[in-house]
Amino acid sequence: MGSRLNLHPSCCLSSFLSIISTLLAGAAGSSRPPKVPCYFIFGDSLFDGGNNNHLNTPMKVDYSPYGVDFPSGVATGRYSNGRNTADIVGELLGFKSFIPPFATSTPPNDSEILVGVNYASGTAGILVETGKYMGENIDMSQQVKNHEETVSRIAQKLGSKKAADDHLGQCLYLSNMGNNDYIANYLETQFSNFSKRYNPDQFAALLVEQYSHQLVRMHELGARKVGVAGVNRIGCTPGAITTYGTNGSLCVESMNKLVVPFNNRLESLIDNLNARFSDSDAKFIYLDSTLAGAIAGLAFPIKSSPCCKASPATGICIPNTDPCKLRRAHAYWDAFHPTEAASRLIALFYRWALVRIL
Ligand SMILES: *[C@@H]1O[C@H](CO)[C@@H](O)[C@H](O)[C@H]1NC(C)=O
Ligand SMILES: *[C@@H]1O[C@H](CO)[C@@H](O)[C@H](O)[C@H]1NC(C)=O
Ligand SMILES: *[C@@H]1O[C@H](CO)[C@@H](O)[C@H](O)[C@H]1NC(C)=O
Repeated sequence: MGSRLNLHPSCCLSSFLSIISTLLAGAAGSSRPPKVPCYFIFGDSLFDGGNNNHLNTPMKVDYSPYGVDFPSGVATGRYSNGRNTADIVGELLGFKSFIPPFATSTPPNDSEILVGVNYASGTAGILVETGKYMGENIDMSQQVKNHEETVSRIAQKLGSKKAADDHLGQCLYLSNMGNNDYIANYLETQFSNFSKRYNPDQFAALLVEQYSHQLVRMHELGARKVGVAGVNRIGCTPGAITTYGTNGSLCVESMNKLVVPFNNRLESLIDNLNARFSDSDAKFIYLDSTLAGAIAGLAFPIKSSPCCKASPATGICIPNTDPCKLRRAHAYWDAFHPTEAASRLIALFYRWALVRIL
């Protein structure tokens, strides 16, 4: 079905990308203040801004060729050739600087935390167990605890809890979780017995139940504008295709099907949270990552082979290898993560949806 929509590079890619670039230039080039004063980022490697760099794990990407297209030209710990989706959402909303990571050797200072903090961590999931077989990560419950620390610093800086609440209520909170609970837990049967204990629908229910507590805690800590991204088309990554094979399809359809109950339940949870917190002015919105990824995928002639030389064992780029030249033609940078160009399209989609809660 998708193959009919393949765009040939010489046909559409450049014109499509130039339209997008024009749209982006309009948004980013303005000198207006940001649409929201502050932005907090929770998630996995798709949003990580360097939080894994100092953890005891091989799943960190603080080396070349990561960052080759980043403004500084060096690796920052982002799982991308350049910016990630969370970065680009920030730019589209008018933020002039990148939101700093929480867990670094130079943690953000009191002025910086007023503008936002990035807590996202590669390999992390909603469940504490997720991804831990590979090494340390900062799971979602810990990310929320880290945010608690930020919130108390903000209250101290602004002089009262009330002042902190007024400030925090204007911020955007973006969360992207759940991908690793499948890729680095449920499907990793050598390291995890969740698939023995839970069928796919029960597992989705377990994840969404946990996530619900974490999102409610964020609300208690002052979050009022919250975007929650669903799980991606995890069966369309080069890593999934290499590991499982597609049996003639474009993607590993069984993997894409596996996460449907999670996304359905998450969408219902978002409706419930809006109903439950309607008196506190809170607005939650579900971001359809499956749709965003499918739309973004159309723009790229090379959909299932990564741009860099990815390690067959881990899926991340082998250090100091040369990446492909035509990075804008690839949907994927390494075996699991989109290129900056693909992230840009996903971010545009998210931004379009988020306007409704900002
Ligand atoms: C906080 O850090 C930013 C960026 O490094 C710096 O420009 C600013 O002067 C610092 N502010 C304070 C109060 O230390
Ligand atoms: C699953 O694994 C956990 C920890 O690895 C263990 O405590 C538990 O007994 C296992 N459960 C089953 C049903 O195998
Ligand atoms: C591959 O597709 C064929 C035809 O649809 C089907 O009969 C077969 O079971 C599939 N094999 C796997 C491993 O999914």
